[in-house]
Amino acid sequence: MRGRGTAHHNGMDPRPRIGSDAGMTAMFVTGTGNDVGKTFVVRGVIRQLRGRGVAVDALKPVITGFDAQTVHLNDTGRLLMALGRALTPRQINAVSPFRLRGDFAPDHAGRVEGRPVDFKALNAFCRNAVSRRKGALLIEGCGGIMAPLDDRHTVLDWMIDVDLPAILVTGSYAGALSHVLTALDVLERNALKIAAVVVNETTGSTDPLADTANTVRRFTDAIEVVALPRLPDGTPEHPALAAVADLM
Ligand SMILES: Nc1ncnc2c1ncn2[C@@H]1O[C@H](COP(=O)(O)OP(=O)(O)O)[C@@H](O)[C@H]1O
Ligand SMILES: [Mg+2]
Repeated sequence: MRGRGTAHHNGMDPRPRIGSDAGMTAMFVTGTGNDVGKTFVVRGVIRQLRGRGVAVDALKPVITGFDAQTVHLNDTGRLLMALGRALTPRQINAVSPFRLRGDFAPDHAGRVEGRPVDFKALNAFCRNAVSRRKGALLIEGCGGIMAPLDDRHTVLDWMIDVDLPAILVTGSYAGALSHVLTALDVLERNALKIAAVVVNETTGSTDPLADTANTVRRFTDAIEVVALPRLPDGTPEHPALAAVADLM
């Protein structure tokens, strides 16, 4: 994995620049699994960018476990609130056009509802959003990098199709290292750019966050690795979130 990253980070260098124009970068936020903190990172970056006066949009195109009565509690609602937009049906549809009620992987939820995720339409939606963006754009995936979307495609196939630099979010739980290194290897084998790895502290983990992040750094010397501690609820400000926002 060493030396095969996309940008050099030698400690003196300013942040690696992935996109062409600062503030216009589009990225895909993926993770090593569910609940690792993808939405938390996206919300944090949105707040950072808005605080800097940078235009930002975010999408959660595929959402499972969607309940229209509790939108404020799900990813769609959380992203809309961070973006300062209303939780109206129109806004919900703009952020999350592929909504499934079942709280399972999208392939299964789609099967249960007899309404599988339309993989072609999903990619067309994302490519359109990327080409029409007016500022930074974050697209949050769904589950881990190889969560099944339908009978034949995983999130990885979606990422390959959309072809954006990835922000990979992982935890600091025991076993996270194998998960994150496996994920990075798969992304690199598929020629996907990796903009950053966010090692997000897992509640109750006995593995120190800094050690986990340093190990990831040792295996990925050309990728920005950011350690994000557990933050008290409602604390959007943290240097780790600022560092990710700097990539946009
Ligand atoms: N660094 C953190 N500090 C505090 N709470 C966090 C942090 N990361 C995640 N959380 C919380 O943990 C839960 C799962 O995170 P979430 O971002 O929803 O994961 P994912 O999008 O990967 O499924 C959410 O309630 C979120 O607010
Ligand atoms: Mg999420």
